Amino acid sequence: MDINAILAQIDTEISNVNSPESLEHFRLKYLGRKGLLTQLTSTISGIAKEERPVFGQQVNSLKNKLLSLIEEKQKAISVSSKQQKLEPWDIGMPGIAQELGRLHPLTQVTDEICSIFKRMGFSVVEGPEIETEYNNFTGLNIPLEHPSREAFDTFYLKDYPKMLLRSHTSPVQIRVMQSRKPPLAVVVPGRVYRPDAVDASHSFMFHQVEGFMVDEGIKFSDLKGILEVFAKTIFGKNIKMRFRPHFFPFTEPSAEVDISCIICKGKGCSVCGRKGWLEILGSGMIHPNVFKHVNIDFKKYTGFAFGMGVERIAMLKYGINDIRLFYENDLRFLKQF
Ligand code: DAH
Repeated sequence: MDINAILAQIDTEISNVNSPESLEHFRLKYLGRKGLLTQLTSTISGIAKEERPVFGQQVNSLKNKLLSLIEEKQKAISVSSKQQKLEPWDIGMPGIAQELGRLHPLTQVTDEICSIFKRMGFSVVEGPEIETEYNNFTGLNIPLEHPSREAFDTFYLKDYPKMLLRSHTSPVQIRVMQSRKPPLAVVVPGRVYRPDAVDASHSFMFHQVEGFMVDEGIKFSDLKGILEVFAKTIFGKNIKMRFRPHFFPFTEPSAEVDISCIICKGKGCSVCGRKGWLEILGSGMIHPNVFKHVNIDFKKYTGFAFGMGVERIAMLKYGINDIRLFYENDLRFLKQF
């Protein structure tokens, strides 16, 4: 038997060993009682005396090589079986639950407001947050030097003095009336911006829903009916409503709408400032000057409009006392909705 040939053979054989069973098979083949090494040793009697020491050394080193190969392989196999145990394929393990996200409370309230109006036949339209001065003011009958412009204090864009961040969602009235013919029934949700100092009830950015309806024969009583359905759906059947005369440049007559305080039911408390009433929106009959700006015949058509702050509605609905909570992304707050 040629020892060199055996050496070459065991190298290839050991590389194919990859389980405890095949390793044992390998060990028995070479080192077992009837293994190759025993057979080799027994041939020593047939070898010339002076060659025996060399042969003996070769057999010994073959044995050592086999022993160390087997030891190495044993380690490798036990490491890989431990790794297999660590693999995440234990189908008996409980799953890792993914936390479900949810809509922001302002998105929820915006959706709720819009869906109430959608059920009454309104469609939802959105407009850009960067507006022209014309759509935000002039078209809505708010002239350049009119003091009422101050009520809608505005961020102007530095390099485009006639462009601004809209201070209300009312400019979408102009966009819709310019591009569509009556009959119209539209609600407009969206962000608006005003350079107000931030405190518990003010933010430089907040959300509004504007609404309007234009057709032949639309009356103030239609406005009252629609807003009553809205207020009772969102705040509960038992609330009372009142229309308080007010001024808005884009409506005539105009009114602010109050609901009976949902905390004290009208008796007077700290939330309603002892008045028993809470203001929820502004409204009125669309001013003829607005119709003139969009080429709608104001002798044929009439319409109403209203606008509300989503934060305010959400704060009243859920008893939230600080507007900043909506913008801080604090999960302890957001998870309550
Ligand atoms: N645009 C008004 C605001 O931002 C809200 C408003 C009042 C809208 C009366 C209207 C309206 O359409 O008729 O305060």
